[in-house]
Amino acid sequence: MCGIVGYIGNKQAADIIIEGLEKLEYRGYDSAGVAVISQDTLKVTKKQGRLKVLADFLEEEPIEGTIGIGHTRWATHGAPSDENSHPHTSMSGDIAVVHNGIIENYMQLRQWLIEEGYTFTSETDTEVIAHLIDHHYKGGLMAAVQKTLRQLEGSYALAITSIKHPDILIAARKDSPLIVGIGEGENFIASDIPAILNRTRKVYLIEDKEIAILEKDTISIFDEYGVTVQKDVFEVDWDVESAEKGGYKHFMIKEILEEPKALRDTLSPRLKDGKVDLDIDIDEELIKNVRRIIIVACGTAYHAGIVGKYAIEKTLGIPVEVDIASEYRYRDPVVSSRDIFIVISQSGETADTLAALRMAKRKGAKIIAITNVVGSSVSREADSVMYTWAGPEIAVASTKAHTTQLLSVYLLMIKMGVVRGDIDDALQKQMVDALGKIPEQAQEIIENEETIKMMAHRHYSIHDAYFLGRNLDFAVAQEGSLKLKEISYIHSEAFAAGELKHGPIALIEEGTLVIVIASQSSLYEKTASNIKEVKARGAHVMAICSESADMVMTLADEHIAVPVTMDIFMPILTVIPTQLLAYYCSVERGIDVDKPRNLAKSVTVE
Ligand code: AGP
Repeated sequence: MCGIVGYIGNKQAADIIIEGLEKLEYRGYDSAGVAVISQDTLKVTKKQGRLKVLADFLEEEPIEGTIGIGHTRWATHGAPSDENSHPHTSMSGDIAVVHNGIIENYMQLRQWLIEEGYTFTSETDTEVIAHLIDHHYKGGLMAAVQKTLRQLEGSYALAITSIKHPDILIAARKDSPLIVGIGEGENFIASDIPAILNRTRKVYLIEDKEIAILEKDTISIFDEYGVTVQKDVFEVDWDVESAEKGGYKHFMIKEILEEPKALRDTLSPRLKDGKVDLDIDIDEELIKNVRRIIIVACGTAYHAGIVGKYAIEKTLGIPVEVDIASEYRYRDPVVSSRDIFIVISQSGETADTLAALRMAKRKGAKIIAITNVVGSSVSREADSVMYTWAGPEIAVASTKAHTTQLLSVYLLMIKMGVVRGDIDDALQKQMVDALGKIPEQAQEIIENEETIKMMAHRHYSIHDAYFLGRNLDFAVAQEGSLKLKEISYIHSEAFAAGELKHGPIALIEEGTLVIVIASQSSLYEKTASNIKEVKARGAHVMAICSESADMVMTLADEHIAVPVTMDIFMPILTVIPTQLLAYYCSVERGIDVDKPRNLAKSVTVE
């Protein structure tokens, strides 16, 4: 996600743009920039780092002008740097563009533009848009933009300015949010409402494939065919703080609800003609002859690693060792150039994970990093990087980053399986089809959040909760337990269901809440017998299970059923109700959900 602001009116554009971008930093904050039409030239200033770096620079070297666009970036293509910051301009410098989204066909467009004689100054997907508009420009900016948009595949929210048309701004969107603010003698473009709430509460909500032309006193909106669209004015009645959360009470619930989009953004650029299209810089010979895969991470990311272990061993038959980074780095582990070492880290800055990466690298292993932050330490130090495109995750409790981590592990598994010949075309097609349905299945679960909210209302005052699961369900049980304890402060533990009789069942007494994860069809009967065991001791059983787990649902006191996909992919779906359960228990207990006590979003110290 990135933040976009545009202004056209009679005030100093740079001031209003910076003010708006400050309200959008939660959408991205690794670099920022502005482009302002100033005395018949288009002046661009852009800086790596937080928005303050740009703002301080503009204090020293202000840009005068009343029309402009600005951007605060969350890098997806091209690490944070001055050059990769937005706005991006045409070669002539006449046209500037800021963009939020992912242009999936940017490499093909970039190649074609280079063959047409264009030169690029950045590694971003966005820069192709500026050159395409230039290429199509024959005197009409709107026509050039329309032709450009027809060539783009993927998602975009755009603000465009041109020195040749100093009396208009153009805005356009597809799959990324964009609004137009209506002022008096001035008008605004923004990714999100918080950016302009200090200036106006009247907005047009731009729909997919609509294009808006803003002048100081008028706003015209067209559909993709150039037909005028009549729009109602939306009056915003939110305060600024709730607007930053998109109207939601907390970032955590906003980020859970963003999971379908995050999954889609992480998946779709990596699928092509029904196959996984993933470039990892790991020698194919190593993939074919690897001795072992080692996955190291912390917390929620570690739980994604456990899923990876079960999935990769089951599908590829490669031994997988998964370990907590803080343990791995001090046990003098056996690792060498015959191993593939995968680190998973949302922030890419977790101290223990980074230390483990460096140790494995010193010992010769090939490093793959799965991270949500472009340009993070793990992304720079790994041999190959796979980004989760979940967008900034602000809440301390990791949710959308986790489900996209799981998805990334699966994609990596398929890629390696195809290289090794363990996955044939038929199995790859089955897997890709199943993964392709996951975002809408996740949406289906989220639409059932009221049920989960009521279940949380029944249980939020408990002191202890136990999560049970077998195999991949045990991985989800561990993640669900962590989520609950870290944001509701309810004591929670996860047990391998088969371990109950080896001690933990002594904890079960009348009314104890036991949350059973059951999605692995071959283990339903085993899990059902575990439910009987704990119910016989008075437990209250909540099952989080697939819709096909009839026996489990019959035995449980209450259940949340999730749509069925391939067993191996079920963790992406069963983990979502555990996130919602933890969230609503925390809200009921009056806890600051986004900032639970004692925790930090990124543990950059040991
Ligand atoms: C997740 O809910 C926790 N906040 C925490 O366990 C987190 O997953 C862990 O600190 C690892 O962080 P990373 O993914 O940024 O490395």
